[in-house]
Amino acid sequence: MPFLFKRVTLQVWIIRYYTHFIDDNAIKESGGGEYFMRVEQQDFMVKGLSYTIRPAVEEDAKTLSEVRLKLDGETETFDREKGEGYIDESGFRKIIHEDAECNHNLFLVAEVHGKIAGFIRAAGNNLKRTSHRVEFGIGVLKEYWGYGIGKNLLKELIRWADSNGIRKITLHVLETNQKAVKLYESFGFIVEGILRDDKLLSDGNYYNTIVMGRINEKS
Ligand SMILES: CC(C)(COP(=O)(O)OP(=O)(O)OC[C@H]1O[C@@H](n2cnc3c(N)ncnc32)[C@H](O)[C@@H]1OP(=O)(O)O)[C@@H](O)C(=O)NCCC(=O)NCCS
Repeated sequence: MPFLFKRVTLQVWIIRYYTHFIDDNAIKESGGGEYFMRVEQQDFMVKGLSYTIRPAVEEDAKTLSEVRLKLDGETETFDREKGEGYIDESGFRKIIHEDAECNHNLFLVAEVHGKIAGFIRAAGNNLKRTSHRVEFGIGVLKEYWGYGIGKNLLKELIRWADSNGIRKITLHVLETNQKAVKLYESFGFIVEGILRDDKLLSDGNYYNTIVMGRINEKS
């Protein structure tokens, strides 16, 4: 009888342990002795547009280089004008490779009918004083705005961060980019500070940048 009791207890413990670490779209893997969540591919259908969100793979490098260049020319919300700070295919291969190896980084793409429509990338570091936080950047091509791609990319990134014990997610956003600010606020990000006259845009005026952050109290 004691033996049976021990077996049942052990089974319950294993099931508890297992379900605690597995959720519907992430798998826990062993890497460098640590456990971390890997984001799995997810399919969406919003307003008649079907798309997939998945981790970037090295084969995406060429398209990502093109998409980033296009994104830089579509708005003035990023730091670069079109063509500045160009990252070519090999540059993206390196980034994707490193992100896949590093527990503190995540690179997700949104794919519409085989074409990359947008991406989100978070990066952290291994310094003991700051390894609890990551900063992210996000971009969706204009023709795909309004289909929830930005929202779903961010949702997946937050799920990954929360599952991996990341306490803080931060970002910088142009103060006039209210669509993005609202999106971040809807996920619990708050304004932490304002960098005055941080950007000089093509109209000759200076613009403020907002620093926003979201803290996961449970981490
Ligand atoms: C900001 C950005 C990522 C949002 O992506 P998106 O796929 O268009 O956004 P979504 O369709 O997921 O919509 C997210 C929210 O934005 C708002 N929104 C969407 N379309 C909008 C529009 N036409 N006008 C105003 N707000 C809009 C809504 O609040 C929406 O949330 P809701 O659906 O719950 O109402 C995208 O516009 C973008 O890449 N812009 C250029 C680059 C950029 O600004 N990056 C961020 C730098 S910090």
